[in-house]
Amino acid sequence: MRTIRWTAWILVVLVAAVTAAVLFDTRVRDAVLGRPGEGAGIARIGGPFRLVDHTGLQVTEQDFLGKPSVYFFGFTHCPDVCPTTLYEMTSWLEALGPAADDLNVAFVTVDPERDDIEAMAGYMSAFDPHIRGLTGTPDEIETVSKAFKVYRRKVEQEGGDYTMDHTATVYLMDAGGGFVGTIAYGEADDIALAKLKRLVGDG
Ligand code: NI
Repeated sequence: MRTIRWTAWILVVLVAAVTAAVLFDTRVRDAVLGRPGEGAGIARIGGPFRLVDHTGLQVTEQDFLGKPSVYFFGFTHCPDVCPTTLYEMTSWLEALGPAADDLNVAFVTVDPERDDIEAMAGYMSAFDPHIRGLTGTPDEIETVSKAFKVYRRKVEQEGGDYTMDHTATVYLMDAGGGFVGTIAYGEADDIALAKLKRLVGDG
């Protein structure tokens, strides 16, 4: 009788421990609740914003729903990281072919002081026409930068000039505006392209 009681207790404790482990393992919980990423140590990326594109059109995050989206933050005076990424993005979009139409691609300035609509329009003309340049007031840029957890910092240079330090990550979002992953700066071409193909459901 005593043995049975002990066995029952051990079973209860084991079941409780396994249940607790399952409930508190964030990956399991997120899979069960269908919220990939959330609670798994990945900050929530994305959120409401209000900006204007390089053709002068008002845009909000709502305009980037219905298709997967790619966001990159930078500035037109950037000496290397931004033009490199935008040229790479241009080659990836060409490689995607017609599937590129199933993506929204945004280049958001972190330097609204200098990157007005005209500056963005001139800059974007050098890259794939799928890429929309987005700018806004300093407050609007602050809002979208915070939403995407983008680091940006003004660095004064000699002669009163300045440059911007900024996050060089490409953000990948699903059609519902949910964060699904990133392309790191300098990531191998084939891996970056595979990620974009997967994002548009073509890989
Ligand atoms: Ni840059």
